[in-house]
Amino acid sequence: MSGYLLEMKGIAKRFDGVPALDGIDLAIRPGECIGLCGENGAGKSTLMKVLSAVYPHGSWDGEIVWDGQPLRARSVRETEEAGIIIIHQELMLVPELSVAENIFLGNEITLPGGRLDYPAMNRRAEEILRGLRLPDVNVVLPVKHYGGGHQQLIEIGKALNKNARLLILDEPSASLSASEIDVLLGTVRDLKARGVACVYISHKLEEVAAICDTIVVIRDGKHIATTPMPQMSVDRIIAQMCGREMNQMYPTLPHAIGEVVMEARHITCYDPENPRRKKVDDVSFQVRRGEILGIAGIVGAGRTELVTAIFGAYPGRHEGEVWLEGQRVDTSDPLKAIRAGFALVPEDRKHHGIVRDLSVGENITLSVLQRYAHLTRIDDGEETSAVKEQIARLALKTASPALPITALSGGNQQKAVLARMLLTGPKVLILDEPTRGVDVGAKFEIYRLMLELAAQGIAIVMVSSELAEVLGVSDRVLVLQEGRLRGDFLNDDLSQETVLAAALGQS
Ligand SMILES: Nc1ncnc2c1ncn2[C@@H]1O[C@H](COP(=O)(O)OP(=O)(O)OP(=O)(O)O)[C@@H](O)[C@H]1O
Ligand SMILES: [Mg+2]
Repeated sequence: MSGYLLEMKGIAKRFDGVPALDGIDLAIRPGECIGLCGENGAGKSTLMKVLSAVYPHGSWDGEIVWDGQPLRARSVRETEEAGIIIIHQELMLVPELSVAENIFLGNEITLPGGRLDYPAMNRRAEEILRGLRLPDVNVVLPVKHYGGGHQQLIEIGKALNKNARLLILDEPSASLSASEIDVLLGTVRDLKARGVACVYISHKLEEVAAICDTIVVIRDGKHIATTPMPQMSVDRIIAQMCGREMNQMYPTLPHAIGEVVMEARHITCYDPENPRRKKVDDVSFQVRRGEILGIAGIVGAGRTELVTAIFGAYPGRHEGEVWLEGQRVDTSDPLKAIRAGFALVPEDRKHHGIVRDLSVGENITLSVLQRYAHLTRIDDGEETSAVKEQIARLALKTASPALPITALSGGNQQKAVLARMLLTGPKVLILDEPTRGVDVGAKFEIYRLMLELAAQGIAIVMVSSELAEVLGVSDRVLVLQEGRLRGDFLNDDLSQETVLAAALGQS
């Protein structure tokens, strides 16, 4: 007996002849948590899709041994029956179905005669969510009522409802708050204690270091190293991931801060579900040319609502005025905001960012097509060179701009959305969680790009849940708490404690 629950040997996978995985080995013991690390596009999600038979046996080379037996699964159903449960990087919930229906999707409890036993499913769903410290979720409401963090935990609840012997978590924490991450890590520890093995994929390396027993690093589809965590550190993981030392997380670039370019006055947003409740309550602020303004706050503080209202994309009723270079901007429509000089890179890439049916290149040129369209004809040459320039500028990893956007790794899809917005030549660039799911090296590139754009005079508004990032790149920091502005700080030796106190309403 090898003592392994799983052995993957020499796994190789190609997409249209291009290798994505090139001879990868991975072995896991019961109760072991493996941290699978690598840059965007390294092949982490692909390897897990091979394991869970999203890519069925026969569509890749190599061998999988599960519990001592060869595993040649042709469908996800088969791997689930074996006890291999995957939580995908992109949420797979059905927005219109209830929370309980989502948790039981494909796994329903039925009454004799075949009808669905809703009371039983609802009870069990509530129980699972209590375990994830989500007692306030109403399991009969459609899942779309809940925000990104809650949906992610519901997705995890759905996995816990299945009989996992190996749980794969692909970027489970990207949209979670710090306290939600604690719940998640606690859940993983409980599973480990019960002998369930885990593969944990995250670009938040502190989290990986805290929870994993073993670190497996892959780069460009190749296995680099397998090391017990006690012999590793976050710095060593980074060095193995990028093949070089990174001794600095935040770039610096002097950029002059000019006159006020944008002003938001008395912005109030009402909850579309409950019009008496304010999600943003009378927030006013200014941004200057060349300034990077960070917006901090805990989940639910109203940060996304505030910036989507300014951009004209808030789905509910909102009040207040937005002024750009002394002109009032109509906030009823994002197209008007774009024409006025705003750009927004949204938080939720899957629903508001990418257009799944289009190619990488088409996604990049989407909102600026007018500029490249002379009368009715689109100038292909000009468009292609603009796309190529953006791909190079962001080091976006794609075999070709003609590839479907869904073929890109998660982090590279994020770069494509950013590239599209840069093409509009904005005066004010709003970035909502710009580095979510992005690897450390690419984060550095995105920060550097933000600094370069600021140096060119663009005002940048960045919403981020990562306090270190807010303090690492912002010139000034706004803090929201329960929809109200609780702080407006110059980032001059500003401490995490000061920002956190304001975010929790303790200052
Ligand atoms: N369906 C597909 N068609 C073509 N190429 C693909 C497809 N899926 C993945 N790839 C390519 O395979 C490589 C590995 O992608 P993968 O999604 O596994 O990366 P990852 O390590 O999960 O990255 P991230 O951290 O950004 O999520 C990338 O170059 C990607 O573009
Ligand atoms: Mg991935």
